[in-house]
Amino acid sequence: MKVGGVPYRSIWRDGAGGVVVIDQTRLPHAFATRTLRDEEDCAAAIRTMTVRGAPLIGAVGAYGLAMALADDPGDAALERAYAALLATRPTAVNLRWALDQVRAAAKALAPARRAAAALACADALCEADVATNAAIGDHGLGLVRQAWDAKARRGPVNILTHCNTGWIACVDWGTALGIVYKAHDSGVPVHVWVDETRPRNQGGALTTWELANHGVPFTLIADNAGAHFMQRGQVDLCLVGADRVTAQGDVCNKIGTYMKALAAREAAIPFHVALPRSTIDWTIESGAAIEIEERSPEEVTHITGADEDGRLVRVRLTPPGTPAANPAFDVTPAELVTSFITEHGVFAPSALGRLRPVSAATPPATPAGAPGSCRA
Ligand code: MRU
Repeated sequence: MKVGGVPYRSIWRDGAGGVVVIDQTRLPHAFATRTLRDEEDCAAAIRTMTVRGAPLIGAVGAYGLAMALADDPGDAALERAYAALLATRPTAVNLRWALDQVRAAAKALAPARRAAAALACADALCEADVATNAAIGDHGLGLVRQAWDAKARRGPVNILTHCNTGWIACVDWGTALGIVYKAHDSGVPVHVWVDETRPRNQGGALTTWELANHGVPFTLIADNAGAHFMQRGQVDLCLVGADRVTAQGDVCNKIGTYMKALAAREAAIPFHVALPRSTIDWTIESGAAIEIEERSPEEVTHITGADEDGRLVRVRLTPPGTPAANPAFDVTPAELVTSFITEHGVFAPSALGRLRPVSAATPPATPAGAPGSCRA
């Protein structure tokens, strides 16, 4: 996608052994890049949320493992780096998925060949992510078009979204926002209700920035306001992403997703979840088994923004010492989900099992044009 007319991805190789990422902690106030040169740089970028979003975390983790192997390709170093990168953020399963791919690609080879294979694998995962998200967008476009037809093409399709699911959360396009971009680009008029997404404000800071860059009409709303707009008939559909979906279709996503799903059910509004297949964790059935990341209370008690001169300032919102809880994700039960929009098509929760791999040795097909797997 473009920033100021220049095409970007969220991550790219610098040609000197490093990868460049956009520092998401500085958006929307500054567009700054950071070069990650080794495993610890990659781990720190994930931990500090310089990079974030389930697919992008996976991509950075993959490069981090490749960089670790460039330093030491031995088995012990491989396992240590795998564990260190996996521990950076616990909830989004794409990180484990990507690390598994790179580890398997490397382990099949003699140590001397591992670093190059791991790097090629990380590159392949990034290319596949772009094609995957483009395919999610194409499949989701059909649903948005249907919603437009259902309102006799009077006015835009009003889409409520949560957190940031755009190109900067992935390698390009995005999951739920990828659908919005595809709709907008193909002439289906859309207007997006952007949930602010407290406490880190991924909606207010990042989704607004992305949509404005792409020229998509949107309105930012406080997290508490979504149900109100749904009740008033001002939302045609909800479109969110996911950080981990269980085999039975429970959806773990950014905190606040569950209350939107409850409100959507009450207002009879479709609630769609857009995700790559790599976000499905086939090892668990129930969302109750997912580890929910608990983040610093200071993300709730304090906030960072730009002052009138554009300087970043951090202020406290609460009395000093206010205790705060900060779960980063919640779980929406499968019964509240209308459909899953994936690179393989649109599935009802009861049909999600059709995406289950037959075996680890037979990876699923990927969209046309995407490298299938690091092992292929
Ligand atoms: O804590 P974050 O900002 O990494 O959380 C991101 C989300 O919850 C996204 O909605 C999610 O990764 C799915 S869409 C790419």
